Amino acid sequence: MPHPSSRISGISPSGKDGWEVHFAALSRRQKGEDILMLSVGDHDFDTPSETVEACVTAVRSGHHHYTQLPGLPRLREAMAKVATEATGVATTADEVLATPGGQSALYAAVQATLDPGDHAVVVAPYYATYPGTFRAAGADFTVVEARAEDGFQPDAKAVEAAVRPETRAILVNTPNNPTGAVYTRETLEGIAEICCAHDLWLYSDEVYWTLTGGSRRHLSPRALPGMKERTLVINSLSKSHGMTGWRIGWLTGPADLIRLAVNLNLVSTYGLNDFVSRAAIEALENRYGVDEIAARYAARREIFLAEMRGFNAVTVRGSEGGMYAMLDIRTVEPDCERFAWRLLEAEKVAVMPGSSFGEAAAGHIRISLCQPDALLKEAATRLRRFISAYPGENKARAAS
Ligand SMILES: Cc1ncc(COP(=O)(O)O)c(C=O)c1O
Repeated sequence: MPHPSSRISGISPSGKDGWEVHFAALSRRQKGEDILMLSVGDHDFDTPSETVEACVTAVRSGHHHYTQLPGLPRLREAMAKVATEATGVATTADEVLATPGGQSALYAAVQATLDPGDHAVVVAPYYATYPGTFRAAGADFTVVEARAEDGFQPDAKAVEAAVRPETRAILVNTPNNPTGAVYTRETLEGIAEICCAHDLWLYSDEVYWTLTGGSRRHLSPRALPGMKERTLVINSLSKSHGMTGWRIGWLTGPADLIRLAVNLNLVSTYGLNDFVSRAAIEALENRYGVDEIAARYAARREIFLAEMRGFNAVTVRGSEGGMYAMLDIRTVEPDCERFAWRLLEAEKVAVMPGSSFGEAAAGHIRISLCQPDALLKEAATRLRRFISAYPGENKARAAS
């Protein structure tokens, strides 16, 4: 065949991608082994039935046609209303671009603001698609690790040290995947100051904004002084409304930038699916599932962490929101990948090694809370048993 473009070849350079444990576990489970899958972040429950019914009604009512490129007007209105709630900043429909999922909103944000050769600073640990999204734009990026010892809150000084003359943007994600850290006001103020001082865009990935628990509430950096005009918020119905497979999300930003970004929808999707858009309108306007899903994850987080607290061998880091808990297992085994493989073999529990998400998360395991309470309890029991009997030189320390 003729040559593919270097752009497409460069998005995901071949080799290890960090998902090896997950896919090995998945294959074994599909062959009938009783493996507890705590490795992947997709809801274990279906989309709320009201949303499903709204979609069925829309299909039956003949909503089978092209829609406006930036989204149906009522959809944009509904998204703007939720953006107002999520970010604490009054938002109008022309500040919103409907996209097929949060990932597509992130892609639009990066494409709309970076030229080839431009540079961005990305806070790690991060969601696995981030590097490829920058590579797809021909942009360079520097990873700044948020430290485990700081509860995975990024250090503004370290972020600023990575800014170069060609830097155009910073990317943060709160509540965070994989760490579950919910960024504090102080953290976000530090990052906002850098954006204002260096005239940078801030991409703020807030797809988990409803999934917080305890005392740490979600704060959007868009609400901070001087940030509305430079913040591009990535949002989605995937997590908050239980709609991962429907592929619907949105980008919120200054109306002038959104107007330009509509052209991306022209050349890529040519607008969203008609009946999915109409179901999404109903879901957004009526908050279908939002409170129940948030309460469910808050309860699961508590159930799992309660099993882990008081177990000296592991330290809980981050784990304040989102769909994941993060356990520091370094006193048991510094090599988290080896730990994850051994856990799978010994106890048939699949988790993600933290190293899959960058250096800062090495020595940790990420636990997905996308399983029923009883299963999470069972997983915690197996994990404790496994650690207490951990083979090798660290056994004595692990059992203490
Ligand atoms: C941090 C983060 N951002 C964005 C996404 C993309 O979500 P979606 O494209 O399903 O809206 C995900 C999905 O897991 C995520 O974890």
